[in-house]
Amino acid sequence: MLSSDILELGVMDEDIDLFEGQYVVPEGISYNSYLILDEKTAVMDTVDSRRGGEFMEKAAAALKGRQPDYLVIHHVEPDHAGSLQMFLDAYPGVTLVGNAKTFQMLEQYFSLEGVSRLVVKDQDVLDLGKHHLHFIMAPMVHWPEVMMSYEDTEKILFSADAFGRFGGMETEPAAWDDEARRYYTNIVGKYGPQVQAVLKKAAGLDIACICPLHGPVLTDTIPHVLEKYQLWSTYTPEQDGILIAYASLHGNTEMGADRLADILDRMSGKDIMLADLARVDESEVLSAAFRYPVIVLCASTYNAGMMPAMETFLQHLKAKNLQKRVFGLVENGSWAPSAARCMRAELEKLKDVTLVEPVVTLRGAVKTGDDTALEALARSLLQAM
Ligand SMILES: Cc1cc2nc3c(=O)[nH]c(=O)nc-3n(C[C@H](O)[C@H](O)[C@H](O)COP(=O)(O)O)c2cc1C
Ligand SMILES: [Fe+2]
Ligand SMILES: [Fe+2]
Repeated sequence: MLSSDILELGVMDEDIDLFEGQYVVPEGISYNSYLILDEKTAVMDTVDSRRGGEFMEKAAAALKGRQPDYLVIHHVEPDHAGSLQMFLDAYPGVTLVGNAKTFQMLEQYFSLEGVSRLVVKDQDVLDLGKHHLHFIMAPMVHWPEVMMSYEDTEKILFSADAFGRFGGMETEPAAWDDEARRYYTNIVGKYGPQVQAVLKKAAGLDIACICPLHGPVLTDTIPHVLEKYQLWSTYTPEQDGILIAYASLHGNTEMGADRLADILDRMSGKDIMLADLARVDESEVLSAAFRYPVIVLCASTYNAGMMPAMETFLQHLKAKNLQKRVFGLVENGSWAPSAARCMRAELEKLKDVTLVEPVVTLRGAVKTGDDTALEALARSLLQAM
């Protein structure tokens, strides 16, 4: 219960293997929904159909026999609108609230014949009695129809997927950052300018509480989470440190990455994260790329190209629009090393990237003689930070 009039209807999904078909969620994921009880009743979003039955039971218990007047649909993605049909079957008299795009997209999933609808625009207000919902369009955070709403009596921002987190609704405030960062960077990361536009709109609101569609309701930590969103959405590194991401066929490039990590540690004592791209969860490495200002890519040459895991990682950096970073390169090859040339070509597709010299070429095993080049690279990286 958020207040005497606002209740949580969210449900927890602990046994989903991959969220959105690709992200591991060791703590599970919650699909949040809220109920406002007033002269008119409003349900804020449904949940993934995987937990539709449980959600409908919670909704019925909270409504205590009342009919919901409105179902506000902040986001059509099936992890939220997935139980709409179930909801309409139980409450056929409900009015759906969304923007023009919401209804266009809903009709791609459901038949809305005979269903009552209220189409809202940016800054429209829905009067529930004591509570009033002000709609804020948030296009492409991260779907085109996304909107938020601000309830002015209790000062609550219903923020859709923004400020969401993998894991449960009961997360401790101190534990928010890592899984919220992994959620943001992988799911919303590409849309920094759109998030910036919404943050500007939110800056004028007095917000006491943020109710996202995943993870915990946020109250005391609002300045902290707004600051994180400000950094992430402007691709500003969050913390001093270096990500060394490597892809190695037989372990020699990995040894080179380890050696470079030792040298950097000795020279600077800065935070260093080593990631084997073929083995570490890729969403975790992408999240680290948003976190740190410096990224070193180390790859074996593979069929006149680079190891596929590195190729995929670079594609993801581009797809998420990662920018404003310093990069270093280490390659390995036995007869015609070409991984660095290929990695450089991919880096040229990113915005605002500095590639420091020297590019280090290893040939097979890492030898004592390679230290000079690795040390020179380490010095350049630290200077560029
Ligand atoms: C399937 C395969 C393809 C390779 N293609 C190339 C290549 O095109 N050019 C090259 O110089 N080395 C090539 N190599 C050799 C590796 O890049 C080289 O053995 C390197 O030292 C591997 O480093 P690692 O131990 O980190 O995997 C290839 C190796 C394998 C197994
Ligand atoms: Fe979404
Ligand atoms: Fe979502």
